Amino acid sequence: MAGLRAAALERIREIAGPSGVVDDPGQQAAYLVDERRLYQGEAALIVRPASTDEVSRILTICHEAGLAVVPQGGNTGYCGAATPDDPDRQVLMSFARMNRIRDVDPVGFTMTVEAGVVLARAQAAAAEHELFFPLSMGSEGSCQIGGNLSTNAGGLAVLKYGTARELVLGLEVVLPDGQVLHGLKGLRKDNTGYDLKQLFMGAEGTLGVITAAVLKLYPQPTERQTAWLAVADADAACRLLGAARRISGDCVTSFEYVSRASLALVLAHVEGVSNPLDQTYDHYVLMEMSAAVAQGSLREVMEQALERGMDSGDVLDGAIAESGPQRAGLWKLRESIPEAEKKYGGAVKHDVSVLISRIPEYLAAAPARVAALTDCYLSVYGHIGDGNLHYNLLPPAGSDPDSFRKQWAARLSQAVHGLAAEMDGSFSAEHGVGKLKKGELQRLKNPVDLAVMRALKQALDPRGIMNPGKLF
Ligand code: MLT
Ligand code: ZN
Repeated sequence: MAGLRAAALERIREIAGPSGVVDDPGQQAAYLVDERRLYQGEAALIVRPASTDEVSRILTICHEAGLAVVPQGGNTGYCGAATPDDPDRQVLMSFARMNRIRDVDPVGFTMTVEAGVVLARAQAAAAEHELFFPLSMGSEGSCQIGGNLSTNAGGLAVLKYGTARELVLGLEVVLPDGQVLHGLKGLRKDNTGYDLKQLFMGAEGTLGVITAAVLKLYPQPTERQTAWLAVADADAACRLLGAARRISGDCVTSFEYVSRASLALVLAHVEGVSNPLDQTYDHYVLMEMSAAVAQGSLREVMEQALERGMDSGDVLDGAIAESGPQRAGLWKLRESIPEAEKKYGGAVKHDVSVLISRIPEYLAAAPARVAALTDCYLSVYGHIGDGNLHYNLLPPAGSDPDSFRKQWAARLSQAVHGLAAEMDGSFSAEHGVGKLKKGELQRLKNPVDLAVMRALKQALDPRGIMNPGKLF
């Protein structure tokens, strides 16, 4: 068996060629550790195929020889889904060389890209055609489309445009045995049975390898209005969201919640930021509206939404960005929270969702669940316009982050996730499952759902070679 595997690895080297294999230990290091440094990995080979054909031939060999494949995009995930852990049997497959934008169709408003295209580059390529690819997130300078789709990434504009899967019209996928699903027609309508592409988005590489995608494009917003608001409480934030969506004709693109504690972390640990308001409040919202044809009127709509919020007492204070740099400054406050948490010493991160209308209930109930276990610094923020909260728990000031994590992470996560599950929510709204949350998947996912997931895995990957140890 070992001889068969060694011969298979040799054949994979030949297919990829010298520039398609990473042998230098210095260069290997970045592929073998995850973004949050929770997992130090090992692999039999790191391969960087340059085409779908190479991916297909490599998978055929792995399938025959019983080698497993761990797909890796920009390696920015939070749950260890792209880190291999077997130096004999696992081949890490990076898509960095599959980075062609194959086509932009300005009539059909689509773009066909390979899996290794970095998200920011996809956005820029759309902009060159005066079009807009709306997926956007803090890691957009390094995360790749293949990873975005495999994990069904969310980000900062889900409220208006949906998660990654909603931005896809077709996929090219290599199945575990090397066969290729050619789904790049880009049709807007195709009712010919199961929508197979959906199986591979959110599957975290456990069913096959996404090699290319047809993405939906939109008109570029011509006007944006961005406001940083202090709101009375979480109920007020939810009411404001509903009102702003109605008043603006659904132009609210982002609606992000930031707690006093998360803002304090940013102000303490991140350079070049300042509090946009004179006072400090308990609850903030970053609201952005955007439109493609508003031609100046969106400002009035934003002001109207804020006036109504102030009249009702939901909005306590606020500032509307007057320029591009001011807008960037407001977004920096929100987007730097993960960086500030890292500088503080790291967080036990969570990513739960409930119905938007139940966010206040979640926020009211969660502190007691946490406090029943241990004392924490609560950094609570997130995409409440999507019903998605990052309920992140940091060690109390002065305590050691590593021992805090070792002692408490599992129990704290169970409490935070358990509350979401009790409220019919999700324990993982946008970061996926990977290795980190697979125990929680078994604990909290409905048994019927789990059985269907296992049946799909068995049907598509009976030899279990695709990203073993992730999800299941
Ligand atoms: C974010 O929304 O900033 C990230 O998804 C959450 C995080 O990095 O904790
Ligand atoms: Zn997020």
